[in-house]
Amino acid sequence: MGGAGAGPRLHGQVALVVGGAGGIGAAIAGAFQAEGATVVVADRDGAAAQGAAEEFDLAGAVAMDITDRQSVDAAVREVLDTHGAIDVLVNSAGILTESPLIEMTPETWQETIDVDLTGTFLVCRAVVPHMVARGSGRVINIASQLGIKGGRGLTHYSAAKAGVIGLTKALALEVSEHGVLVNAIAPGPIDTAMVAGITEDWKKAKQAELPLGRFGIPAEVAPTAVLLAGSPSGDLYVGQTLGPNSGDVMP
Ligand SMILES: NC(=O)c1ccc[n+]([C@@H]2O[C@H](COP(=O)([O-])OP(=O)(O)OC[C@H]3O[C@@H](n4cnc5c(N)ncnc54)[C@H](O)[C@@H]3O)[C@@H](O)[C@H]2O)c1
Repeated sequence: MGGAGAGPRLHGQVALVVGGAGGIGAAIAGAFQAEGATVVVADRDGAAAQGAAEEFDLAGAVAMDITDRQSVDAAVREVLDTHGAIDVLVNSAGILTESPLIEMTPETWQETIDVDLTGTFLVCRAVVPHMVARGSGRVINIASQLGIKGGRGLTHYSAAKAGVIGLTKALALEVSEHGVLVNAIAPGPIDTAMVAGITEDWKKAKQAELPLGRFGIPAEVAPTAVLLAGSPSGDLYVGQTLGPNSGDVMP
């Protein structure tokens, strides 16, 4: 790993970016590649993952459904067999649906918890033992500012993302002594496919709430992941939640 200003900061590192087919994950994959990492993207949408790998000239793409333990384990095994290690794991896969709690079905609740919280657990469960055995690694979980402040119509999503922040702290406590640093990023609203379906009225109202008055773009989140993955830039971050969020939350 190179020092600050010493050329590619992730040279020699193998990074697995889960949910890397689009949006924030794809931007992180591209930024890691630009910093010299060997990057593999994993996504439920295998064709889109392949597309991202071609667009950013990445080392590879694998299909992975993070709600399916066998799919997660098989994809992680494939990456380890092909590249020999996973030095950096990014958990960026996620879904967002909206429903007030008083109308929410248990199925809607469970679907979000399965993807946005349990999925992060399953991927960490598959990758972190390997990092502990090697005595080094970085895990970056993409949470959300809604896991800190909550959002109307988003009890399931807010609970899942608060869960990711708690998982991040507890796992960081368990494995930092083994050289594995676990942190989260809690972005504010970012223009991706995930928010493409929201109404213009909602978007305008949300933008008016933000100190910066605008949503971010994925390229404005990716540098925070590079900071956490790199050395010395990420060496002192343990169990933290960093907030590129247009000022939406100031913890
Ligand atoms: N866009 C925002 O405003 C925003 C804000 C805060 C946090 N986030 C979080 O950032 C992360 C990335 O979101 P994004 O905005 O880039 O959205 P996105 O929809 O562009 O990307 C999410 C990716 O996750 C993949 N995915 C969904 N379910 C999956 C599953 N079961 N297994 C594997 N892959 C799966 C999708 O195929 C997609 O490629 C998510 O965790 C999201 O909750 C987004």
